[in-house]
Amino acid sequence: MNRLDGKVALISGAARGIGAETARHMMQAGAKVVIGDVLDEQGRQTVQALARDGGDAAYAHLDVTSTDDWNAAVAQATSRFGGLDILVNNAGVFIGRGIEEASLADWQKLCSVNLTGVFLGTKLAMPALRERGQKSPHGSAIVNLASIAGLVGSQLDPLYSMTKGGVTTFTKSAALEFARKGYRIRVNSIHPGVIETDMGAQTFVARAERMSTNDVDAARQLSQASHPIGRLGTPADIANGIVFLASDDAGFMTGAGLVVDGGMTAQ
Ligand SMILES: NC(=O)c1ccc[n+]([C@@H]2O[C@H](COP(=O)([O-])OP(=O)(O)OC[C@H]3O[C@@H](n4cnc5c(N)ncnc54)[C@H](O)[C@@H]3O)[C@@H](O)[C@H]2O)c1
Repeated sequence: MNRLDGKVALISGAARGIGAETARHMMQAGAKVVIGDVLDEQGRQTVQALARDGGDAAYAHLDVTSTDDWNAAVAQATSRFGGLDILVNNAGVFIGRGIEEASLADWQKLCSVNLTGVFLGTKLAMPALRERGQKSPHGSAIVNLASIAGLVGSQLDPLYSMTKGGVTTFTKSAALEFARKGYRIRVNSIHPGVIETDMGAQTFVARAERMSTNDVDAARQLSQASHPIGRLGTPADIANGIVFLASDDAGFMTGAGLVVDGGMTAQ
């Protein structure tokens, strides 16, 4: 189940957090992985850690807002590993400001990483994914990191929510376009609840500010209590879902959203 033997994956924003854990899970499932990020030192350390565990991985400097960086990262995957089967559009940023507090620069930053990054990745990895998709029984796969904030409103970051709503519907549109054209590239999104990463910690700080207490521990407790399953999510919880969506076990899924949120949006 959920095997990725012989497949090659490119994961954006994978120096740390959900992306790094996804790289680890993909390699354990048999894939070769290119990690892209703007945090070059941390990205290289992540690759070294994966190599120590016996994996085949490479690091690419990838600012997802840059066309040149995307072209170079895709070329690195195809030249080093022979092709590209999986793209994970994982890089993302969170601002944690309300509509009254957020500036135009905040909005432009969110848009450039969370939206432009997903558009460019999809567009520029598509030819390589299409080529490998022709030879694979269930095609190639793109997995986009949306959020529960792309399904319901956000108490903490309405602008982040607007970008993740865009990722949610872009996923469906891209799935339809590639299917219509016969490209054999499945496109799905994943919608995490609050996950214990650097970004998860940023949400606790934003929540504490919203409560006017600056008590980050209390904010964390409140966040945990909002997940009916009784805990916050881990990067492994999300990596498991991403590996499934990228694998041939999800071969009949495209344009879908996988919610992994401990029941938060079931309420
Ligand atoms: N942590 C959560 O609670 C949560 C919840 C829902 C969705 N998500 C989404 O999951 C994804 C991963 O989040 P995470 O929790 O691991 O966050 P994180 O902050 O730990 O990691 C995000 C990574 O993206 C990278 N990045 C930022 N800007 C970039 C750019 N321009 N180009 C390339 N890389 C860039 C960062 O350097 C970092 O390595 C994001 O898209 C996020 O929106 C996270």
